[in-house]
Amino acid sequence: MSQALDEIKIGGLGASRKRVEDSRFIRGTGNYTDDITLPGMLHMEILRSPLAHARIKSIDASRAWQIPGVHLVLTGEMMATRNLAWMPTLSYDTQAVLATDKVRFQGQEVACVIADDPYIAKDACELIDVDYEPLPAIVSPQQAVAEGAPVIRDDKENQHDNVIYDWEVGDSAGTDRAFAQADKVSRLRLHYPRSHPSPIECCGSIADYNRSTSKLTVYMTTQAPHIIRAAVALVAELPEHMIRIISPDIGGGFGNKVPVYPGYVCSILASILLERPVKWIEDKSGNLISTGFARDVYLDGEMALRSDGKILAVRMHTDADHGAFFSDAQPSKFKIGLMHSAFAAYDIPVAHLTARGTYSNKAPGGVAYRCSFRVTEAMFFQERMMQAAAGDLGMDQAEFRRMNFVADDQFPHRTPFGFLTDSGQYAKCLDVGLKAVGYEDFRRQQAEARGRGRLLGLGISTMTEPLGAGNSREYDILGIKMFDSAELKVHMTGKAIVRTGARGQGQGHETTWAQIVSHELGIPAEDVVVEEGDTDTAPFGMGTYASRSTPVAGAAVSMVSRKIRAKARKLAAHLLEVSEEDVEWELGRFYIRSAPDRGVTIQECAMAAYSNMPDGMEPGLENTAYYDPPNLTWPFAVYIVTVEVDPETGVWDVLNMVAVDDCGIRINPMIVEGQIMGGLTEAYAMANMQFITFDAEGNCVGSNYMDYLLPTAWETPGFELHSEVVTPCPHHPIGAKGIGECAAVGGPAAFVNAVLDALHGTGVRNIDMPLLPDRVWEAITYHRDVSGAPPVLTGDD
Ligand code: CDP
Repeated sequence: MSQALDEIKIGGLGASRKRVEDSRFIRGTGNYTDDITLPGMLHMEILRSPLAHARIKSIDASRAWQIPGVHLVLTGEMMATRNLAWMPTLSYDTQAVLATDKVRFQGQEVACVIADDPYIAKDACELIDVDYEPLPAIVSPQQAVAEGAPVIRDDKENQHDNVIYDWEVGDSAGTDRAFAQADKVSRLRLHYPRSHPSPIECCGSIADYNRSTSKLTVYMTTQAPHIIRAAVALVAELPEHMIRIISPDIGGGFGNKVPVYPGYVCSILASILLERPVKWIEDKSGNLISTGFARDVYLDGEMALRSDGKILAVRMHTDADHGAFFSDAQPSKFKIGLMHSAFAAYDIPVAHLTARGTYSNKAPGGVAYRCSFRVTEAMFFQERMMQAAAGDLGMDQAEFRRMNFVADDQFPHRTPFGFLTDSGQYAKCLDVGLKAVGYEDFRRQQAEARGRGRLLGLGISTMTEPLGAGNSREYDILGIKMFDSAELKVHMTGKAIVRTGARGQGQGHETTWAQIVSHELGIPAEDVVVEEGDTDTAPFGMGTYASRSTPVAGAAVSMVSRKIRAKARKLAAHLLEVSEEDVEWELGRFYIRSAPDRGVTIQECAMAAYSNMPDGMEPGLENTAYYDPPNLTWPFAVYIVTVEVDPETGVWDVLNMVAVDDCGIRINPMIVEGQIMGGLTEAYAMANMQFITFDAEGNCVGSNYMDYLLPTAWETPGFELHSEVVTPCPHHPIGAKGIGECAAVGGPAAFVNAVLDALHGTGVRNIDMPLLPDRVWEAITYHRDVSGAPPVLTGDD
């Protein structure tokens, strides 16, 4: 009788298997877009606007055309003759590919040069003469709606102001009634500043149009290759089966590589026109100034409270600055994404949210930087508001949260904004976090240190995030529903290949998808290879962002494995010469119920699928599954930070950081920990150091790594991670919830709350991120809130 397999030993669910993709990444043998060279390849560079808002009087490219080695100069005028000067955005707006009438943000694409090498192309760009007539720039929603503000999008027929949308959700009248009964109303206003995902690898593409086969192949840095193929087919009207998008290794995406950028479009057109491969690789400042900004939202809200601490209602208003084009890559039917997931973890009877979106003279914003479509802003406001309200009530921070949490037996729980959360153990997570940080002790130390003039602070943040967009009732991109798929082929020797429509950018899919197959079929994970990112070979999928891979593509991997198992059961019955009903399954093996020592392995079934199948059975052991998730998954986390603030300088240091994440069943605990540490590092960077803003002329201040700091190991604090709370997702085939973004979503508020807790008693309610030393010093010294809203003063002011 064979032994039952040990799932951890074969690399199944729960195994901290080393990441297989790291073998090539740490050896420097990854294959990124910029590593690819095709025969006869040309190079493209982009000329960008130096001004944020200006009318284009003329563009003269004649000097650029004369440079030896230049093959093509593309301008908006030329694009317009092919109806490509503008492109549709994923939010049903339009975006200029190359500017024709006006430039609308600093760094906007004005022209492209295609040449023998990138240096010639760059030099030629500098010889393009553009005559601009400067216009006043708008850098905030307040300016956008002010009397007499210039209309940024005067290209749009019915656009007479700078408002993109006014949207609301929740129960306005019910919220008013609850506020009328409140013992206390607590208020908070803040700005979640612009931030940039800033992946190490910038964006780029190599378009290769082959006239003789009519096939267009594009290698590109996209998190969603199938969506790009659909967009190229629909927008450029090319036949879909003649388009192949290959997304090779990606050096970090974080949402930055979801949108369609003008560079992609221009390289494709240039290749079609020149019938040669055209490579475009963006430089760092191009990436920082023009692509996928996130956040930039003003959040204003109030909470109706009973004197015993019960929250009666919440009212919120958000003003979102979308930049010059409304190109949020968010697939929900909700204008401000999932902002109304705010307060989902708290049992609040009624709430109302109004949201206004406006244009400004900044690069398009609203990209979901390591978050699910505005969830980061929602959770930040939620946890900052919770701290302010507890303070106003004179209640303990932890106790106030605990008494308002949705209880374990209240699931599924309908939030006041209409989401259905599935499961969680919120109070338990909080207890684990408080114990780990030594809450009571720290409060004693804090009081004692105060007496000696030392400022210690403790910040709590919780988050629950709707992950796994989405279900097809409420989520789609350009009408395409938000499902995902997986294809599994088991070869005759029992080795397998699994392909999904997701596209990892460093998250470890090549490791974890194999673990799911291993869990479902008992095939050792090392016998399963994973492939993603090529639309000619991978089944259709909506891509990887918003931590949707495990909730959707991962679920599809499970489901396709189960289809394979169902067929293998028939093969097993045939091999064992019994009826299918008499066959039982244990990991990796079928056996006869009445004679457990008689069995066949999954590998033997695989061989039979090619050599000894029952009469009438289709040979082979492969299948595809599409998975349309019934709901989003709702992980939960508690983050607790302790800090010391230097009152003389405003510098603050992290003393301790504790993270308690409940993402349901962990496929690979080591990878999950890596995801949490990465997210916490980004959260710390946002709270502490990342400053990218705009002056009154719309110049982007901070579009370089001198100002927009990436945290290194030197300044990043240590993190203490806890994994003891596990609440399986009730509707996911293996009980997993997403994790990729949780820490980046919930982390920032913990740091900010900690610094503000250290300033407790000074009357300071808010300091906008990043909490730079001068801002903290100003708050301490003048006992006032400090806003980070643009325009900022520059040296010239
Ligand atoms: O969509 P994305 O891959 O960015 O996010 P995710 O689905 O949250 O997964 C991030 C990584 O963590 C992947 O390698 C997942 O398979 C892994 N993961 C896990 O091991 N267990 C979970 N419960 C969730 C994710």
